[in-house]
Amino acid sequence: MTTRRSAVRIFVGALVVLAAVLLWRHHVHEEEARMMRTDPDAILTTPGLRDTALKRGKEVFAENCASCHGADAKGSTLKAIPDMTDDDYLYGQNTPSDIEQIVLHGIRAGDTKGWNLADMPGYARAIPYAREKLPPLTPAQTDDLVAFLRAANGNGGYDEARVDRGRMMFKTTAGCGDCHGGDAGGDPAIGAPNLVDGKWLKGNGSEADIRHTLERGLAGVSPAFIHRLSGYDARVVAVYTASLHPPTKPAQ
Ligand code: HEC
Ligand code: HEC
Repeated sequence: MTTRRSAVRIFVGALVVLAAVLLWRHHVHEEEARMMRTDPDAILTTPGLRDTALKRGKEVFAENCASCHGADAKGSTLKAIPDMTDDDYLYGQNTPSDIEQIVLHGIRAGDTKGWNLADMPGYARAIPYAREKLPPLTPAQTDDLVAFLRAANGNGGYDEARVDRGRMMFKTTAGCGDCHGGDAGGDPAIGAPNLVDGKWLKGNGSEADIRHTLERGLAGVSPAFIHRLSGYDARVVAVYTASLHPPTKPAQ
């Protein structure tokens, strides 16, 4: 009798534990489903979802992004990794949905849905750019372009004639303006950075740094995580990353 009663007790106990586990799993599942149903750009302004997204997003960032982007997401001008806490960005509008797209499909990561529309050509090479015919630049021409960009970023003391030659080349023969815009203000549709905002992806805007980029080119890679992260983790890390910089759109 007693063994039977304790068997019943164990059985009921097990049922209660199972029910609790199932309820918890249902709750987590519901929350994940809600996160995936919600417009990613609305999550930061949805109180219940915001906290959950930021908490998990921070963990996903530490595990998958911090190795390159830095634990503080400030990147590295030495390695040409962008600062993700400022209001300067390469692609799109820097919204959670833009960032989710980058997390899933990457930048120049070999994923056909990722960003890969343009690279910075290397103008010291005989063939600066594989995708488009562009003339190589002589060291003197490169110096004129450096003078133009330095002057355009508010550095005085450059010879006017050099700056003018650089500006002309930028807009015409060297093809720079086709990607960066004639005013060098950049083009977020192809990831060509603004060159006159005093913020640099590679180096700190010194003559040597600019010359180095012009001569060797630049084509940074951010990996595609579509096969490495769940859709949920990709979304929350994008929301977390977006929360680190000032809002780029008025709050919804
Ligand atoms: C292997 C290094 C590496 C890892 C890991 C990595 N990234 Fe990147 N990421 C880069 C580089 C390099 C760039 C700059 C690409 C370029 O120059 O176009 C970049 C660019 C970006 C950008 C564009 C930033 C801007 O200012 O426009 C976003 C957003 C981004 N990464 C998010 C992430 C997130 C989120 C993760 C983690 C899930 C991640 N990256 C993991 C190297 C990395
Ligand atoms: C085919 C398009 C294209 C052309 C042409 C082009 N660029 Fe770029 N440039 C880019 C892209 C894309 C990047 C960013 C690369 C990256 O994110 O890894 C870049 C980056 C740069 C940078 C680095 C900026 C930073 O913040 O560190 C400089 C400087 C630059 N370009 C100057 C020039 C000049 C000067 C010319 C003309 C001689 C030129 N570019 C022509 C696409 C182009």
